[in-house]
Amino acid sequence: MKNIVIGQSGGPTAVINSSVAGAYKRAKELGIKKVYGMVHGIEGFINDNIIDLDEYLKKKENYELLKRTPSAFLGSCRYKLPIVKGNEEVYEKIFSNLEKHNIDALFYIGGNDSMDTIKMLSDYAKEHNRKELFVGIPKTIDNDLPITDHCPGYGSAAKYIATSIKEIIRDNSSFDKTRQTVCIVEIMGRHAGWLTAAAALAKDDNCEGVDAIYLPEVDFDLDKFIKNIKSLAKKKSSIVIAVSEGIKTKDGKFVCELADSNRKVDAFGHKQLSGCASTLANIVAKETGMKTRAIEFSTLQRAATHLASLTDINEAEMVGMKAIDAANDGKTGMMVTIERKTTKSYKSATNVYDIHNIANIEKKVPLEWIDKKNNQMKDEFIAYAKPLIQGELIPIFKDGLPQHLVRK
Ligand code: F6P
Repeated sequence: MKNIVIGQSGGPTAVINSSVAGAYKRAKELGIKKVYGMVHGIEGFINDNIIDLDEYLKKKENYELLKRTPSAFLGSCRYKLPIVKGNEEVYEKIFSNLEKHNIDALFYIGGNDSMDTIKMLSDYAKEHNRKELFVGIPKTIDNDLPITDHCPGYGSAAKYIATSIKEIIRDNSSFDKTRQTVCIVEIMGRHAGWLTAAAALAKDDNCEGVDAIYLPEVDFDLDKFIKNIKSLAKKKSSIVIAVSEGIKTKDGKFVCELADSNRKVDAFGHKQLSGCASTLANIVAKETGMKTRAIEFSTLQRAATHLASLTDINEAEMVGMKAIDAANDGKTGMMVTIERKTTKSYKSATNVYDIHNIANIEKKVPLEWIDKKNNQMKDEFIAYAKPLIQGELIPIFKDGLPQHLVRK
């Protein structure tokens, strides 16, 4: 390969930049001349908006800084490539830009929507006898990509959630029964509950854990929810509950829409979900008269590089490197996957898999890992998720604050 281009797409994670770092490092080891970055994903690339990563990553200290930088360093987008028929000019622009910069391979870091871009481009290349290669690099805090054991980004968000919930539980337990408080914590993850389930990791030798967890995999029943809170309130002064932003009632209505159904929809048809915790906190306050608090982790959970999991950072770097190796071996229309090698002492390896069995498919939490009766996660989930939050990478501090690499 002569030159390559890398893009980032969808919601950022705490480690999405480690995949850029890994891909850059491996490409340079292989002698690839130019490693370009798309500014704002494929949308930017269509407009020929690219940067030369040498400008930023040649310096070793910047490489280390990038691994500790939240957000999509290159800039992200939520752009859905249209079908080819009737939209040929979009594809012509992409392929003429590839040609213009002598790019033989395009890498896209993203979740299931972003993998659609790799599928569309590799299919187009095949149909039009183009030689360029297209490889997907997994990332999503939602952890909902199929085939891969887990997704880079998930472990760090899970570590942030478990840590913050431990802290919330301590705070919420400060007062006695005279100041009983119900704290409802809202966690991202759209239609899959992987991230909300990570609230279960808060329970350890010195923390009693959350009182209930509500995932989108299970229909939400408001009456049962209130009943559960009332029964918990008879026994405890502090009640902490984790809810997914994507919980829905039996009739398919998002709980966050109970108060306001005017939701924005993105290019992939996803409704913007938020406000579920405050909707529920208001209902609980009205129904029980208790003090309630709503906490929405929102962007904090995917930007907390100061609390990233070292396992996650290393794997994000590893999938970036593997993508370059795959293209170097001539592979295209593939996504890199992570395989769990052992369950006793955790080890993982990378592989590649056909993008057609990955793009646009969401992997949900297995129902048998959910303790529906007690609204808790079973040991199988803990065994799955615990290894992914292990280890830390200390930020580089200056004047009391962590430093980041910022694109100019
Ligand atoms: O795709 C990842 C994700 O973080 C989801 O968990 C969340 O629902 C969504 O992105 C939020 O997207 P945005 O930040 O574009 O509103």
